Amino acid sequence: MSSKASNVEYSVDDKLPRHVAIIMDGNGRWAKKRLLNRVKGHEKGVEAVRRIVEACRELHISVLTLYAFSTENWQRPQSEVKALMGLLKRFLVEETPELSKNNIRLNVIGQLHRLPEDVRATIDQVREATAVNSGMLLNLALSYGGRTEITDMVRAVAVKVASGDIAPEDIDESVVADHLYTAGIQDPDLMIRTSGEMRISNFLLWQLAYSEIFVTPTLWPDFTREEFLTILQDYQRRDRRFGRVS
Ligand code: IPE
Ligand code: IPE
Ligand code: MG
Repeated sequence: MSSKASNVEYSVDDKLPRHVAIIMDGNGRWAKKRLLNRVKGHEKGVEAVRRIVEACRELHISVLTLYAFSTENWQRPQSEVKALMGLLKRFLVEETPELSKNNIRLNVIGQLHRLPEDVRATIDQVREATAVNSGMLLNLALSYGGRTEITDMVRAVAVKVASGDIAPEDIDESVVADHLYTAGIQDPDLMIRTSGEMRISNFLLWQLAYSEIFVTPTLWPDFTREEFLTILQDYQRRDRRFGRVS
């Protein structure tokens, strides 16, 4: 972790997003362009993760959600899934001291029971080790799918209705939000997708309702701090109307 936010001309006091969510896409294409194995692209992508976590921390962004592995990604070749799980575990282990040093708390959202046992154990360790940190929240979407999340929420609410804990007429938007994996976390203000795809690929279906969206053609391993800052400046120029008139 090297460069400092202060080196960049950037006004941090004006309308910064509190929660940034990123679909980190394009690792495979990055590798393919270089005639490398897709896994090399994922390895290179980890460096971009470190750059962006550092930038967010320096800018005092409260929450950074990174889409690291979707429920659909389980359908990739076994060898790629295995390599991704290995990379994830290594990242978590190597990054723990840095997270602690920088007061960053780790949270994970998704169907964690589908993850290999050793990865789950590592996640638990890092969550525990960083639980007291009060700075930024690094929220990893892992084995995550928006439709699964909504389905799980419906089941959880249904159980409470069946047991009489919640009356059907009391179900409102806040009850729904409180039973999603993201309970207690504000919705993203800004959602960035790299590699140019104009879709959300089952990411945060409920939470992105009013997020500003920015799609860049840059492949994730090539995504720099400078480009991130440029996107934040673009965000600052937007008029968020939330259905009202400005
Ligand atoms: C994103 O890169 C990382 C994951 C989905 C795990 P991809 O692996 O999807 O890269 P492309 O889209 O094939 O280039
Ligand atoms: C979305 O990327 C999931 C992650 C970045 C983890 P994908 O590469 O899986 O999405 P599609 O297949 O292009 O929609
Ligand atoms: Mg992709």
